[in-house]
Amino acid sequence: MNIVILAAGMGKRMYSSLPKVLHPLAGKPMLSHVLDAARALQPKKIIVVYGHGGELVKERMVASDVVFAKQEKQLGTGHAVLQAVPELDETVPTLVLYGDCPLIGKGSLERLAVTAGTEKLGVLTVELNNPTGYGRIIREAGKIVRIVEQKDGNASELAIKEVNTGIVCAPTAPLKRWLSTLTNNNAQGEYYLTEIIDKALADGVEVVSAQPDSVMEAMGVNSKPQLAELERLYQRQIADKLLASGVTLADPARIDVRGKLVCGRDVFIDVNCVFEGDVELGDGVIVSPNCIIRNTKVGAGAEIRGFCHLEGAQIGNGSLIGPYARLRPGADLGEEVHIGNFVEVKNSRIASQSKANHLAYVGDSSVGERVNIGAGAITCNYDGANKHRTVIEDDVFIGTNCELVAPVKVGAGATVGAGTTLTRDAPAGALVVSRVKQTAISGWKRPTKEKK
Ligand code: UD1
Ligand code: CA
Repeated sequence: MNIVILAAGMGKRMYSSLPKVLHPLAGKPMLSHVLDAARALQPKKIIVVYGHGGELVKERMVASDVVFAKQEKQLGTGHAVLQAVPELDETVPTLVLYGDCPLIGKGSLERLAVTAGTEKLGVLTVELNNPTGYGRIIREAGKIVRIVEQKDGNASELAIKEVNTGIVCAPTAPLKRWLSTLTNNNAQGEYYLTEIIDKALADGVEVVSAQPDSVMEAMGVNSKPQLAELERLYQRQIADKLLASGVTLADPARIDVRGKLVCGRDVFIDVNCVFEGDVELGDGVIVSPNCIIRNTKVGAGAEIRGFCHLEGAQIGNGSLIGPYARLRPGADLGEEVHIGNFVEVKNSRIASQSKANHLAYVGDSSVGERVNIGAGAITCNYDGANKHRTVIEDDVFIGTNCELVAPVKVGAGATVGAGTTLTRDAPAGALVVSRVKQTAISGWKRPTKEKK
């Protein structure tokens, strides 16, 4: 099939300079959700109709399998589909999706496509308790005969609860014909796509309907309150799936997944955690409250204590992270590593059983096994222009408040005394100290305040 995605509407009611379809839902532009659903159907072609001022839509969504058609003026949904006509392959049907209806799923679209086949006009409809704002489905003897927009309907029409999701599937050659003869004499002065129903019936083409798997899939976003509502519904669905798969959530209403979260057995996630990108939590992982975890893999049995910020990290089995730890991209921790409060690790490998328990910075480093990095220790990896590496071999002890000025290497088993500024390599097994010798001045009197 051909798939046309309408994304030219201005989104006035969003009160934003960002085009509506680029507003994120679960961390991803609404239009990307729709594109994912479209791609899942393996169509012949995907055409995105974008609008005046919507160049950003084209820029952000550019992909080898997407064609763009510009709608200069937003003259209505029918006029929007008309802009895609030159791109449509007449040998297959055309499915029309909306860029602001982000949660539509593959299963529902397949059902509509199967119902419509290659000859019929299929409309995806849904029953809503509150149908306000949507086009109402008018049936006679059970068959769809018309769709009436909110602004055009009379009281009895507006009482109908079955509404148009906007998603339709039509045979392409007649669709082209129907679109070219649309009129705009209605309350909004727009070329309505829904008018193709009259035209199909006039041509003797049967109009059929299918329903989506859930109401949520049909919900469109016109405003921030609707976006927020859909976000919560979607997050709740993700939480329910996690629960059903055996994950324990302290509160399914207080977790946000913006990407893909894969969990092993017996994972516990406490409240207010946000997962972004691709996150994997191994068996028995515990995540305490208020953590942000992005593109990170956490090994089995590891514990992430409260208030951690982890991004692009790998955490080995049985490790203990936080509270208040920050792992930045390239932090690669072995098994049973301890990273404590106010410790930042970036682009560094830290091998198994090593510890940095308090207030340290480890950047661009290779740290061996069983290393202890004391409080306040810092790798000085940046000279103002370039980054340099620090190598700390197995069984090293770095005392508190040391500065390791990279490039520098600490040999296996060496001890670096507290307060040392290490500018040359430390030999293996040695004690290295660079410290001003301690002196004592006895009888020292502290200055006192002058009297005025
Ligand atoms: C439309 C349907 C209505 C349906 C509702 C479902 C028509 C006439 N009405 O109404 O029956 O219940 O969707 O949400 O089809 N768009 C363009 N160019 C335009 C106009 C719209 O690309 O000139 C795009 C918008 O970006 C949006 C979609 O089409 O993605 C729907 O447009 P919108 O103006 O929101 O239509 P509704 O009034 O909600
Ligand atoms: Ca709409």
